Amino acid sequence: MKFWDRKGEIKFLRAYLRSFPNSILFIYGPKSSGKSTLIMEVIRRLRSNERVIYFDFRSKLLRASQSFIDLFFKIGGSEREGLKSAFDIDEKSKKGMSHGEINPFEIMEEQLKRGSGGNVIIVDEVQKLKGLYSDPRFKDGGLMDELLNFFVRITKVEHISHVILMTSDTFFIEELSSRSLLANCAEYYLVDFFSDDIAKEILLSEHLNDVEASYVVSWCGGVPWFLERVLSKRKILGVKEAVKSLYDMVKGEVLKSLGRLWRGKEDLAKKDGEVLVKVVMGGRVDMLLRDRDSVERLASEEVVFYDPIKGLVRPQTRLHDRAIREILGLQ
Ligand SMILES: Nc1ncnc2c1ncn2[C@@H]1O[C@H](COP(=O)(O)OP(=O)(O)OP(=O)(O)O)[C@@H](O)[C@H]1O
Ligand SMILES: [Mg+2]
Repeated sequence: MKFWDRKGEIKFLRAYLRSFPNSILFIYGPKSSGKSTLIMEVIRRLRSNERVIYFDFRSKLLRASQSFIDLFFKIGGSEREGLKSAFDIDEKSKKGMSHGEINPFEIMEEQLKRGSGGNVIIVDEVQKLKGLYSDPRFKDGGLMDELLNFFVRITKVEHISHVILMTSDTFFIEELSSRSLLANCAEYYLVDFFSDDIAKEILLSEHLNDVEASYVVSWCGGVPWFLERVLSKRKILGVKEAVKSLYDMVKGEVLKSLGRLWRGKEDLAKKDGEVLVKVVMGGRVDMLLRDRDSVERLASEEVVFYDPIKGLVRPQTRLHDRAIREILGLQ
């Protein structure tokens, strides 16, 4: 598959991975901004003596009945093309862990200390772990704290592994970043859509002319899959129609989302509507008190994006911006 370059982001991540492990790195960003694609490319470019364990919860429907041990360990090893997807374990040790006789975190640490190269642990869609509390060892949400404690230990204290945690659930990022155990132990890095300039470069490199490329960017911004869609449809529909069909789709989705949130709830519609007006008109959104629950609702439906580190709320994409304006009857 084609990879459109992310020079700035790759430079940042390579520098992080080359440095002495000293903090957890949270990668966050809007849905489909290109986080997973980027990290896979960075992994491809790593030195071969680097051991990478990539916990990919993207395609997994994690059930609350699933245990931490099942997710993080695999009997007989999990390496494919130099990439591991779990820690190794044998049958006997797994039993020991399940009975609480062996501490899984000790086994993990031991494995990380083996070998001469560096280690990188990546957890993609880390927010999926928040529902996994059924393991009796980790009551009342204790799993997340135990895991974070472990990640702090192997980065900040033992310096034996890098740890990258990825999510588009920014309320979850906010919740985690407010925990005292992470104070001075974590960094946060936003992987956003492409900038307008880069999106235009991409479209020019894909043989759109200057006028077409500018038109697409003015409507779609730098959302990778919007660009892909326009490029794949332009031969059949032409550029303008391809953009229009995307816009109609996004507007339909926004309408459906607002219907789900507001149907029969006039008070919510009024409150969220006012917040949406502020978001598209550049007004100040009050995330501490007044507007918080509206933003949480609208972000859960991916109508808006909340950046908890910068404290900003914006429409999910440029097409969403237009759709919201049209739906609310703004100019
Ligand atoms: N650098 C890139 N080059 C080419 N295509 C890309 C690039 N980044 C993203 N894409 C396209 O956009 C789609 C979404 O990207 P990706 O799944 O990496 O986003 P994400 O931020 O991980 O999404 P999610 O929030 O759902 O985890 C991909 O399927 C891919 O087709
Ligand atoms: Mg992803």
